[in-house]
Amino acid sequence: MHRFQYRDHELYCEDVPLARIVEEVGTPTYVYSHAALVRQFTVFDQSFADVPHLTCFSAKANSNLALLKLFAGLGGGVDIVSGGELYRALRAGMPTEKIVFSGVGKTVEEMKAAVSSDILMFNVESSRELDVLNGVAVEMGRQVRMALRVNPDVDPKTHPYISTGLKKNKFGVPMEQARTEYRRALTLPGLKVVGVACHIGSQLTEVGPFVDAVTRLRVLIDQISEDGLEIKYLDVGGGLGITYDSEKPPRPAEYAAALKQALGGCGLTLILEPGRVIVGNAGVLLTRVLFTKAGEKKNFIVTDGAMNDLIRPALYGSYHLVRPVRDIKRKAILADVVGPICESSDFLAQDRMIPRLEPGELLAVMSAGAYGFAMSSNYNSRRRPAEVLVKGDEFHVIRRRETNEDLIRGERIPPFIK
Ligand code: LLP
Repeated sequence: MHRFQYRDHELYCEDVPLARIVEEVGTPTYVYSHAALVRQFTVFDQSFADVPHLTCFSAKANSNLALLKLFAGLGGGVDIVSGGELYRALRAGMPTEKIVFSGVGKTVEEMKAAVSSDILMFNVESSRELDVLNGVAVEMGRQVRMALRVNPDVDPKTHPYISTGLKKNKFGVPMEQARTEYRRALTLPGLKVVGVACHIGSQLTEVGPFVDAVTRLRVLIDQISEDGLEIKYLDVGGGLGITYDSEKPPRPAEYAAALKQALGGCGLTLILEPGRVIVGNAGVLLTRVLFTKAGEKKNFIVTDGAMNDLIRPALYGSYHLVRPVRDIKRKAILADVVGPICESSDFLAQDRMIPRLEPGELLAVMSAGAYGFAMSSNYNSRRRPAEVLVKGDEFHVIRRRETNEDLIRGERIPPFIK
């Protein structure tokens, strides 16, 4: 069930009117529904209940400590791509044996931190990274578990910026090279090969590309097993899409069934790295209308939320439904919902039929739980929004709004500037 619903023309998250959150916390503010998060995680995880698996939430989608701790409590692990995400995962109490480290450009410092934490596995993305990771492990007197992230060269049919499994993309080791690299890894004393990994893209709305990818990886697994490698984990990455507008992505159960069928009782432990599907529709961004403006060509609704708070529309042309928090009957107008930032790319919605709004009114930008706050910035010296978690009729600030002091933290004026 959708956790953001109107009751008597007022938009609620669970049992809390969104307007009440704004009274206490202000705008712009991200609001997440605890019930939606728990449900999405559980539904996804349960779809794989009949096979050995580990659901590693992809921290990049939303790395708030409260969410990471929530998923850890539900038995989940985490997929990280930086030392910063490792730090967050550890601070959230994530068990280290449930942490998987992906990423095309890990630094030695990041590798060392993850080796000392004895994480479940590294997903190595290049020939050179194999050597560097081996060097780090040997120097630390350790042997680290690893998979190669293989680029299966399948088209995920999604936005080009979030396609990752094509030959032209920077990610992973090409399929043709993978067997050679696995053989080489076998000879490196600091490495213990335990898995094969891939991640082909994000916001996929069909199962076909996932099935193609794992089918190709299966062939590779058979080959490298002949070479004497014992593969225990198959990491299929993340990527399952959600409904922002009218997309009809497969449900987790359909996605799981298709993967399981393609793998046909292979006996491997599946690692899943869902991000968006767990948190995307569990969050909204609340913003207040500052001004309305009738331009010559179209109308503008200027809000206090901007591209620094939610960059997806500006960066990918993404669609997010915009709903008034108070939904009273009135005429709709064609308008852009824009922020105060000095760029024409600063919009939250473009060319939408939107109820005629008054300054001071509140809007909810829907489906903002994934890659919303996580991609926010301080551009235009704007303080990043607060984050709130709702549970039933309670709500808690899980990240306070930034202050002006936060904006200049770490900056120093050298003595020669008087
Ligand atoms: N695993 C790896 C290795 C990844 O690179 C990603 C996402 C995921 C898992 C999680 O994918 P998901 O289940 O969330 O699709 N900022 C973009 C999305 C970038 C995705 C990057 N990688 C957006 O706002 O649409």
